[in-house]
Amino acid sequence: PVDVFEAWAPVNIALCKYWGKRDAALNLPVNDSLSVALPDKGTRTRVTRLQGESKDIVFLNDQPVSEADGFYQKVVAHLNLFRLDRGDRFRIDTVNNIATAAGLASSASGFAALTRATAGVQGFNLDGKALSILARVGSGSACRSVFDGFVRWHKGEAVDGMDSCAAPLSQVWPGLRLGVLTLTGAAKKVGSREGMARTVETTPLYSAWPAQAEADIAILEQAIVDRDFELLGVTAEHNAMTMHATMIASWPPLLYWEPESVAVMQKVWQLRKDGVPVYLTMDAGPNVKLLFESPVEDSIRQVFPDVEVVKLFP
Ligand code: DP6
Repeated sequence: PVDVFEAWAPVNIALCKYWGKRDAALNLPVNDSLSVALPDKGTRTRVTRLQGESKDIVFLNDQPVSEADGFYQKVVAHLNLFRLDRGDRFRIDTVNNIATAAGLASSASGFAALTRATAGVQGFNLDGKALSILARVGSGSACRSVFDGFVRWHKGEAVDGMDSCAAPLSQVWPGLRLGVLTLTGAAKKVGSREGMARTVETTPLYSAWPAQAEADIAILEQAIVDRDFELLGVTAEHNAMTMHATMIASWPPLLYWEPESVAVMQKVWQLRKDGVPVYLTMDAGPNVKLLFESPVEDSIRQVFPDVEVVKLFP
């Protein structure tokens, strides 16, 4: 064990989504998912061992987080997985270099970084699989943020979740780009945790989801091996739209789209009609992420001047 340990983890965007749990306490998913990491966007977390304190202390982006805050409680619950001694107390300093408003899930990078940093401070020498399993217990998609590049989360079969973890794919795709469009004026919506439960419980459409996700992930892996951008884009966009269809068909309905989200979708579809290969994906929020390759970056910027373009591989 050491007194201080710092770690970093990237945000990830799913091309085949994690949507639906078979175990809510352990964040065990119904289906495999596949994501790509955003290299320079994510969370840096420092864990400092405290002496003589009765409570953990949590800072988020340099601001103290109150014990009444749900975020504080999630962090403390995660730390409980790592305490060697009942009296172990820690100070957590976690900094996201992505605006929360960008709708890039910071809980994934946050729990992955917290897992790495806490394991480090406790002197646990864990491999990627063990880190991924622990990160998953904090937030499902965090298990994918333990790795860089393309990452597949294998849902696993075990009831204790010990085979439900992510693993990186070996392929890189230097020309691949992700465009982040941050929409304003969006109301706060239902979180993933509650949204997934509602979808699984209330829509008969959900029964079609696991098979589509399984088929999509096989196609995505092949598209990545072949660097077949159109196949990647079509599959990722169709997967996201299918997930949203299950959300919309839930009761009460879960509609994460804002009018601006739909306007962006229509622009993307018009661009495709005009011959520009660009596809979109969306998560449990109103922001739209674009997928394209480097040669069309200028065309994308003309239509979306505010787009933040992320190069995904060196
Ligand atoms: C729509 O990982 O945030 O972004 O496991 O309850 O913490 P919990 O959910 P979370 O869900 C992410 C859902 C998604 C799709 C995805 O990233 O795969």
